[in-house]
Amino acid sequence: MRRPILAANWKMYKTVGEALAFIEEFLPYTKGMDAVEIVLAPPFTALEPLARALAGTPLKLAAQNVAAHEEGAFTGEVAPRMLADLGCTYTIVGHSERRHLFGETDPLIARKVELLLQHGIRPVVCVGETLAQRESGQTFEVLGAQLDACVSCVPPERAPELVIAYEPVWAIGTGKTATPLLAQEAHAFIRERLGKVFGESAARMRIQYGGSVKPDNIYNLMAEQDIDGALVGGASLDPVSFSRIVRFDRPEEFQ
Ligand code: PGA
Repeated sequence: MRRPILAANWKMYKTVGEALAFIEEFLPYTKGMDAVEIVLAPPFTALEPLARALAGTPLKLAAQNVAAHEEGAFTGEVAPRMLADLGCTYTIVGHSERRHLFGETDPLIARKVELLLQHGIRPVVCVGETLAQRESGQTFEVLGAQLDACVSCVPPERAPELVIAYEPVWAIGTGKTATPLLAQEAHAFIRERLGKVFGESAARMRIQYGGSVKPDNIYNLMAEQDIDGALVGGASLDPVSFSRIVRFDRPEEFQ
C-alpha cells in the first residue's frame, strides 16, 4: 500500500562532477526498480545538473534544506520557489544536523513545511531523539512534540504528501543502527501520533528510518511493518553501496 522510498542524503559531499559520475554508475542499477521510489538529495550546487541528468528517469530530486521565507534579503538562503523551479520533488527539513548545528527550531521547521507544500514540494520531515533523551526515557515525548509542532499546520488531505524520517540522533553517522525492533517501535508510535493529527490519512503516510543504514542492515529494517524506507547518509555516497540499499529485497544479486 505504501511505496517504499529510499533516499540518499549526500550532505556536504560531492562536486557537480562527482555527482554526475555517481549517476552514470548508479543509473543502470535502477533498471526495473519501479516498485521503489529512489530519491537523491545532493548539495544545492548539484541540483540543477542532476535535474538534467535524471530527466526521463523515475529517480526524484530532493534539496537538503530550504529557507523559511518566500523571498527577500536573506543572504545565503534558497527559496522554495527556486527549488520548485529546478524540479525538486522533495526537500528534507528539520534534519538533526540542522537542528543541532544550526539552531533550527520546530516552529521554523513548521514554516518550511507550510511553504514547501504551497510550492508543490513534498517535505521530508526529520524527527529523532538524542542519546540523553532516550536514556532518560523521553523518546516518545520528544518525538510526539516534534511531530505535533512540525506537521500540525498540514491539512489532512495533504498529509500523504509528507514523508516522515525517524532518525535517532545517536544513530546518525555513528555506525550504531537502531535495531529493527527498536526502530519499528518508534515508527509505530509515529504512525499512531500521525493518526491523531490526520486521521485515516496516516495509514498512507510513509515513515523512513535513518541512521547508519547500510547494505547489510536494510533488509531487516524494511521487513518491519511501519518502516517504509530509509534516509541514507554515508552509505549513499558510493553508487554500489546505495544500489545494494535500493535493491534491498534482492540480496542474492550481490553475493
Ligand atoms: P548516516 O546519515 O546514514 O550517515 O547515519 C543519515 C542521515 O543523516 O540522514
